[in-house]
Amino acid sequence: MDATYITFCCTDTKAEPWLAGLRAAVPRALVDVWQPGAPQADYAVVWAPPQQFIDEQSRLKALFNIGAGVDGLLKLNLPPGMAVVRLDDAGMSVQMAEYVCHALIRHFREFDGYEADVAKGTWSYRKPRSRAECPVGIMGLGVLGQRVAQAVAQFDFPVRGWSRTPHPMPGVTGFAGESQFNDFLAGTRVLVNLLPLTAQTENILRRDTLQRLLPGGYLINVARGAHLVEADLIALIDSGHLAGATLDVFRTEPLPRAHPFWSHPRITITPHTSARTLREESIAQIAAKIARLRAGESPQALPGCVDPARGY
Ligand code: NAP
Ligand code: GLV
Repeated sequence: MDATYITFCCTDTKAEPWLAGLRAAVPRALVDVWQPGAPQADYAVVWAPPQQFIDEQSRLKALFNIGAGVDGLLKLNLPPGMAVVRLDDAGMSVQMAEYVCHALIRHFREFDGYEADVAKGTWSYRKPRSRAECPVGIMGLGVLGQRVAQAVAQFDFPVRGWSRTPHPMPGVTGFAGESQFNDFLAGTRVLVNLLPLTAQTENILRRDTLQRLLPGGYLINVARGAHLVEADLIALIDSGHLAGATLDVFRTEPLPRAHPFWSHPRITITPHTSARTLREESIAQIAAKIARLRAGESPQALPGCVDPARGY
């Protein structure tokens, strides 16, 4: 079998450990960082590559994205038929479950309030809240959303899930499609966004949708910043309709220093870290998929192969 040539083009990623890992994991592989003018490779491992990369490497057998979301990649002008394969969990779903449960429980148990009281030297109690009155709605029941739904259900919150097509799950009240979106929102108090960013989902978290949540609603956005109309969120929190939000993703990242989210007392922010790409798990997954392709499988048979028409 000929050597496999893998090119690596990942913005904001230290290349050396990835190159060493891929060389070790893919037998007879030549693995190099892409440079303009480099020869055509068989496979690429990418994150936010420039259009020039796609134009020059137009005959790749598959493009492996080292993240779950492919919105950045699908914005590029890709040759028709170029296979795009996303990370399929690779250690992300457990991180996402931890993050969402942490944010949910911090809000529900008012730990932020206790922290503030302790800082002031106050020994205080808050009235226990009713779990039954805090239904958690998860937008997106894919690889990450399903794991999050299971984790939240373990804490006995009522769990609701919304997806494009129905996904029956034990312990989760399911809603699907646009026609059931308003019903889903209307019975939700804590809303968790785990949708991919597509033409259909951009700006989906805005005044008229967030207003439908139960009073005192809370938003946890861990998907993409462009899902949220940021000014609408601030207005709804300031008017008292929403209790607050935990946000991991933003329209502009890093979040500009002057942005009001930095100092809003009811908004908790983190720097796009809810589910990080884990290098070893990702390399093992990509290497296993390359082995399947080399054995003659079609890219469309691989878990995580993206449907460009659907956008995820
Ligand atoms: P996924 O497996 O592709 O699941 C996407 C889910 O969204 C599916 O259930 C899908 O419905 C649903 N969906 C898509 N379009 C919809 C629409 N128009 N209406 C209703 N439901 C819709 O994706 P994933 O792996 O769970 O990841 C979700 C997103 O999380 C990624 O796209 C990425 O943006 C984000 N993410 C963020 C971080 C972070 O660190 N903040 C890390 C990883 C991922 P069907 O099942 O019916 O198709
Ligand atoms: C991170 O945001 C990812 O999409 O993997």
